[in-house]
Amino acid sequence: MALIDWSDDYSVKVQSIDKQHQKLVELINSLHSAMKQGKGKEAIEIVIRDLISYTKVHFAHEESLMEKYSYPGFLKHKAVHDELVKQVMEIEKNFREGKTIISQDILNFLKRWLVDHILAADKQYSSLLTGKGAA
Ligand SMILES: [Fe+2]
Repeated sequence: MALIDWSDDYSVKVQSIDKQHQKLVELINSLHSAMKQGKGKEAIEIVIRDLISYTKVHFAHEESLMEKYSYPGFLKHKAVHDELVKQVMEIEKNFREGKTIISQDILNFLKRWLVDHILAADKQYSSLLTGKGAA
């Protein structure tokens, strides 16, 4: 069973962003199955790095749309993104240095890390962006 099932409740009604959110769901689910299957450190490390790099691509995309359409909460939202990147980079560092394993607790953290951000922060730009025709 997947850790996160995509739900229409997560949609921000901007197609390009929903697609990227779905890809992030997939990456976190891949990390979950790698852990379940007892995959080795290197294989898990690759998935975490993919998650970090795709997260950066995705946040840059969201930020460019927020800027383009003059979203008033842009700076605050960007600061939240920066903090989220820091958190996942910290997990990667601790894992790489052997200070932590990728446990169910960490996976649950990453699930909340993504889903809560979508529901609490991303949903707030939704009506402004869709109203200005962002796709
Ligand atoms: Fe966001």
